Amino acid sequence: MALRTRLTELLDIEHPVMLAGMGGVSYHRLVAAVSEAGGIGTLGASTMAPEELPEEMAKVRAATAKPFGVDLLTAMPGQVERGIQSVIDGGARIFVAGLGVPREVIDLLHSKNVLVGSMCGKVRHAVSAVASGVDFVVAQGTEGGGHTGTVATIALVPQVVDAVGANVPVVAAGGLFDGRGLAAALALGADGVWIGTRFIATFEARAVKGYKDTLLALQEDGTVISRAYTGKTCRVVRTEWTNHFDEHPEELQPFPAQAVASGRAGVNHLGGADGLEVDINREFMPCGQGVGGIDELLHAADVVQQMVAEAERMIERMAAVRR
Ligand SMILES: Cc1cc2nc3c(=O)[nH]c(=O)nc-3n(C[C@H](O)[C@H](O)[C@H](O)COP(=O)(O)O)c2cc1C
Repeated sequence: MALRTRLTELLDIEHPVMLAGMGGVSYHRLVAAVSEAGGIGTLGASTMAPEELPEEMAKVRAATAKPFGVDLLTAMPGQVERGIQSVIDGGARIFVAGLGVPREVIDLLHSKNVLVGSMCGKVRHAVSAVASGVDFVVAQGTEGGGHTGTVATIALVPQVVDAVGANVPVVAAGGLFDGRGLAAALALGADGVWIGTRFIATFEARAVKGYKDTLLALQEDGTVISRAYTGKTCRVVRTEWTNHFDEHPEELQPFPAQAVASGRAGVNHLGGADGLEVDINREFMPCGQGVGGIDELLHAADVVQQMVAEAERMIERMAAVRR
């Protein structure tokens, strides 16, 4: 059995599993490993310096001939404009934008044969993205790690499918970490999954020292939605730094000034060197609620294979329920 969906057809990939473009984490080793395993890797370029992006893309291409993508944040002033030529020149198959629809670059990307995806936390975000011409949407529920909204994945995905699923593939994200989540996403009408936190706990992920071990030990209630690191609502590991701003919200600055403030305070090293020493009790560690189910460091290819194999078993199980 193979899981063929509109997403696997559109992207010409084997499995409907996408590596989320996680800033600080989804660098060339992880991206190449997921693409090579038959999913699709997406570089988390929001934390990369402008000269770093073409280097990372070249390293992905050196490691795999399979398609891969790049993710940038529309809300970061100038980031998409600065990075988009590298995205095209570096041979990305897909471009995904977080925190806003990248309207100004969609036509250019299409003219260069790059498909465009948009992160959505509400139905109206998805409708607006599709009206602007994106090729697929990622519906991310509040359970997800990183910047996130308030609507839960299981409620959001079918409503986004109803709103735009006739026009474009819908990819489910937020709190999904295994084959049961993949099967559930397909049952909700999605065409694939966009997975973040599960891929942080892999050998290939880039991470500051202690981040992966923190995730392996954390329970499902160990995260919190906080503005403490960036100024926007972001699901992260609860730390002394988030606790402080829970008690002193009047000290919070708007995005992106709070990101600058947390960087100056020495608690935000997302994008820092792999294995960098940090104060893990205060550090910025975006993380989804699926974390309690993640207790083993794996190779990224094994995450993909296990997820697909388990989803196939779950689909057979669902078929057997029907008598
Ligand atoms: C460490 C980390 C960094 C992230 N950075 C970005 C980013 O730069 N751009 C983006 O679109 N989404 C970003 N996200 C959100 C992911 O793309 C994805 O939607 C989310 O991780 C899915 O939920 P999950 O973590 O429960 O799998 C990030 C998430 C994490 C955990």
